[in-house]
Amino acid sequence: MAFNINKIRNNFPILKQTVNGKPLIYFDNAATSQKPQIVIDTLKEYYEEYNSNIHRGVHFLSAKATDRYEDTRRKVKEFINAKETSEIVFVKGTTEGINLTASSYGDAFLKAGDEVIISAMEHHSNIVPWQLLRDKKGVVLKIIPVNDEGEIIFEEFEKLITKRTKFVSVVHISNSIGTINPVKEIISIAHKYKIPVLIDGAQSAPHIKIDVRELDCDFFAFSGHKVFGPTGIGVLYGKREFLEKMRPYQGGGDMIKTVTFEKTTYNDLPYKFEAGTPNIADVIGLGAAIDYVNTIGMENITEYENGLLSYGTEKLSQIPELRIIGTAKHKASVISFLVGDIHPYDTGTILDQLGIAVRTGVHCTQPIIDQFKIPGTVRASFCFYNTKEEIDVLGLGIKKVIRMFK
Ligand SMILES: Cc1ncc(COP(=O)(O)O)c(C=O)c1O
Repeated sequence: MAFNINKIRNNFPILKQTVNGKPLIYFDNAATSQKPQIVIDTLKEYYEEYNSNIHRGVHFLSAKATDRYEDTRRKVKEFINAKETSEIVFVKGTTEGINLTASSYGDAFLKAGDEVIISAMEHHSNIVPWQLLRDKKGVVLKIIPVNDEGEIIFEEFEKLITKRTKFVSVVHISNSIGTINPVKEIISIAHKYKIPVLIDGAQSAPHIKIDVRELDCDFFAFSGHKVFGPTGIGVLYGKREFLEKMRPYQGGGDMIKTVTFEKTTYNDLPYKFEAGTPNIADVIGLGAAIDYVNTIGMENITEYENGLLSYGTEKLSQIPELRIIGTAKHKASVISFLVGDIHPYDTGTILDQLGIAVRTGVHCTQPIIDQFKIPGTVRASFCFYNTKEEIDVLGLGIKKVIRMFK
């Protein structure tokens, strides 16, 4: 499919509605993205035609469901250019991927006094799992500082590394301020000291081409619902050498080879990490979402969204009362802002009346919002089905907010 915005918008039924009497403008893509018809149809087809449990059935429906489930694993492997499907673990989302790593990697490799480095712009889901590990095992959490533009202070990163540093976990693209972090460089420095790195790819997988082998990251987590797939499904990529040594995160069916009361042997990768009946329908739905993204082409998506970011930044910067939070040189299509001293919640509420969906608050990144000494932001996050015309309407909406609060 060549990049035809009208055709693309037509693929997303939800975009056709009005909200509060106005055409819906959906600028909350960083929270979750909308679903193309093909994903919705794939879910319906699964439940109507071959709903069945996988991996343990000899019958037709089970075999078909198993094939489709494992097809998605192959699609994910290609999508992020992993080496093997056994390195692709299906989880609930980015949050579970990070929790799994902190817990299982932590159990296998970290001890009291070992250090884990994260950055000051992490999502709570890349902070709290490491704090849980700190409380459980006594590891020490160190934080890479971030400057006033919202960029990681790169030189400070290497200074944090000591002999006790055993893991680095950083966000690829910030959901609250849009910064694209230099993860390749971070990984390469960490590897100089033989420290493995997890990349939180929740916001990068939907917007830029991911190549885990090129990045050479050791773990990479992302969420299906942000890559136009269903909720409740996500991916943890992990290098085989680590996954093999890690203990299972949960115990139950499917993750075992043999069970006696005395001893259990675990299944091969990746099943060792997929205990119980998985989220079959949504894994298959994720496969349809990846196919859809591939038909548009990630390069086209990135290019189009960069255009929206430049246009939006220029347009909104023309409003004197508006202050953009997060002005990094390398940014994805997220614009966080404040309007005068109007509370973000008030701005968001008025924009909603105009049919514009934005997110307000700290966006699950309280530490970086606190660093800016602000109560939160209004966040407009764009995606490839948004248009410059919609950004114009946002601009007019913000001007209306200003008039109302004058
Ligand atoms: C950067 C980042 N990391 C992690 C997450 C958590 O993703 P999920 O809630 O899908 O597990 C999000 C969700 O907004 C995010 O933006």
